[in-house]
Amino acid sequence: MNLPLPPVLVVDDEKNMRRSLETVLSDEGYSARLVESAEEAMECLAREEFFMVITDARLGGMSGYDLLKKLHGQKPDLPVLMLTAYATTKLGVEAIKAGAVDYLSKPFAPEELLHAVARCAERYRLLRENAALRSRADQAFSIEQIVGESARMRELRKLIQTVAQTDARVLILGESGTGKELVAGALHALSQRKDQNYVRINCAAIPETLLESELFGHERGAFTGAVRQKSGRVEEANGGTIFLDEIADMSKPLQAKLLRFLEDGSFTRVGGTQELRVNVRLLAATNRDIAAAIKEGQFREDLYHRLNVVQMNLPPLREREEDVVVLATHFLKLFQTSMNKNVRAISRAARQKLLAHHWPGNIRELRNAIERALILEKTGELQPSSLPDFQVEARLQRGQALQVSPDESLIDALARIERELITEALDQSNASLSRAAERLRVTRHALRYRMQRLNMVSDTAPLE
Ligand SMILES: Nc1ncnc2c1ncn2[C@@H]1O[C@H](COP(=O)(O)OP(=O)(O)OP(=O)(O)O)[C@@H](O)[C@H]1O
Ligand SMILES: [Mg+2]
Repeated sequence: MNLPLPPVLVVDDEKNMRRSLETVLSDEGYSARLVESAEEAMECLAREEFFMVITDARLGGMSGYDLLKKLHGQKPDLPVLMLTAYATTKLGVEAIKAGAVDYLSKPFAPEELLHAVARCAERYRLLRENAALRSRADQAFSIEQIVGESARMRELRKLIQTVAQTDARVLILGESGTGKELVAGALHALSQRKDQNYVRINCAAIPETLLESELFGHERGAFTGAVRQKSGRVEEANGGTIFLDEIADMSKPLQAKLLRFLEDGSFTRVGGTQELRVNVRLLAATNRDIAAAIKEGQFREDLYHRLNVVQMNLPPLREREEDVVVLATHFLKLFQTSMNKNVRAISRAARQKLLAHHWPGNIRELRNAIERALILEKTGELQPSSLPDFQVEARLQRGQALQVSPDESLIDALARIERELITEALDQSNASLSRAAERLRVTRHALRYRMQRLNMVSDTAPLE
């Protein structure tokens, strides 16, 4: 995780001192915000985020000590570095007692200042990373979230319950939107590792060059930008579970490293030599046809066998019609509460419309359809007119560019059309991914992700 560092707040009533502090800090890559008084500092702190405060002890108006005391009560995690004018330890000690992380007596060497600032920056990063970790841990998964009364869903829930208790690796396969993430979460939540970390990585969403360091960490100086050592997500998952989503999108060289990791749990950080070892349970998922990926040489067969200890195949929604209404009702109740709407049921005609559709986007598509319908619905029962126009594909087919050949499935046709739209956007943007993404109103990451799904990028092709 590479969090951007917010600026340092510098409080000093002497203009020259502010300037020289700014120079020292910006030369080292920190950004600084300069203010003249403690009062001004309080205003800034109420509006903006800072990773630390550097304040002179003596200021016109409220003193640096008063500022420190105030901050200590309001923002106990915000480090304050006090600058004192006299070289007396007594004042420094007072500052520390009042809650400063450190003090420097003027005049001081720039290195002394930078040393203190670097420690505060590190502390800020740690605090933020832990907060991010906790928020991930809070997201509770449970087997009850996997709704569906069809025989296949009942079997799936039973299988999850049995397999969760073991340390067996699970490969979760299924089309987009069939609930792979939900299943992975339930496997962790029901396991003996449930109180340990659950770490999720989307292999397609992280740029390939960063994925290895994300997974296994890096040593300081391993590559440009590796300014400090970073431990990998596998270390974070130690004792718990790691879920590698979109595993088929992992590059071949990284697949080799993952294979070694799966063989004996050992790995080395990028740029490191020391062999490290962790105990994690691995879950993986993909919506790609993994057999085809192996045949085409895009996915290592030996890695597949390592991952595929237990395989869970999530059926597409169109193969379990009996779940459509069950799920639609489930989402109706869910959104009803959050939207504070009073739509009690799904009308017969709306149910028929739901059943007639073949759901290429599976449960995600159904969930979105119900959410949107609830926003639009004016009566106490969900009407077909509030549901999306599922015939839109048929109308698209009438367009010139959107001819669908008789042997092409809807999914293939939609993929082809998406490919065409992306290619056109790239052509019009001189192959710039960022500009094409802007044109298509998606993020650069999202575009790259879609292109990978559509097999529009090779593993090695650089895309900027
Ligand atoms: N059986 C289910 N019961 C209730 N909700 C479900 C079920 N399956 C999936 N969902 C919901 O559908 C949405 C899509 O599910 P999920 O993100 O797990 O799909 P996925 O298989 O990981 O798709 P993708 O391959 O596109 O990443 C989520 O909002 C999820 O909560
Ligand atoms: Mg998913």
